Amino acid sequence: MGVAVKIAPSMLSSDFANLASETERMIQFGADWLHMDIMDRHFVPNLTIGAPVIESLRKHTKAYLDCHLMVTNPIDYVEPLTKAGASGFTFHVEVSKENWKEIIERIKLGGMRPGVALKPQTAIEEVFPLVESENPVELVLVMTVEPGFGGQKFMPEMMDKVRKLRRKFPSLDIEVDGGLGPSTIDMAAAAGANCIVAGSSVFGSADPAHVILELRKSVQEAQEIN
Ligand code: DX5
Ligand code: ZN
Repeated sequence: MGVAVKIAPSMLSSDFANLASETERMIQFGADWLHMDIMDRHFVPNLTIGAPVIESLRKHTKAYLDCHLMVTNPIDYVEPLTKAGASGFTFHVEVSKENWKEIIERIKLGGMRPGVALKPQTAIEEVFPLVESENPVELVLVMTVEPGFGGQKFMPEMMDKVRKLRRKFPSLDIEVDGGLGPSTIDMAAAAGANCIVAGSSVFGSADPAHVILELRKSVQEAQEIN
């Protein structure tokens, strides 16, 4: 038995003009979480959505909103996202070296679930203290592309990070994000990822429910072997 499988379509690839119906559609197709990419055009060269959109969306869905903060000052977003009704709050380790303890504390006080993300060039060891802390993060997001845009190519060399994490933390939620789809999922599943973000592969498919099912099956099968 492994850690619970979570398939999280990235709403970055959805039709933002119809976000409520897009989220509803994904839940009907079998999604566990909805991955919300929040970008500030500073930490990454793209600008997407923020707390006001999460707040509007929350009025239309009870789903778990897995927020991925690609922003330079994550602490400034904790209060607005708490009020907006976010579920998970995953910040980047690269911009939180000085204040991660305070960020985690505030996320938990707000009733959200804390996670930490790392970019491809960041060593996995940098997140260990956050997982081993007395007040730890509950999820580690391993970026498998450079953050900023959907539709990029999966970086298989990131799987070493996932393997190292899984060996050290058997029950941790390990999320992979970027370039995941039916052709790459087996690598991530074998390495030990259990939370799978998928944008273009799900939204670009004529049968998103089938893609979600395939992703889930692959993770379940890998967990049975290991
Ligand atoms: C990229 C975002 C991802 C992105 C994934 O910076 O963090 O969540 O939407 O999209 P795909 O699955 O298309 O690579
Ligand atoms: Zn993301």
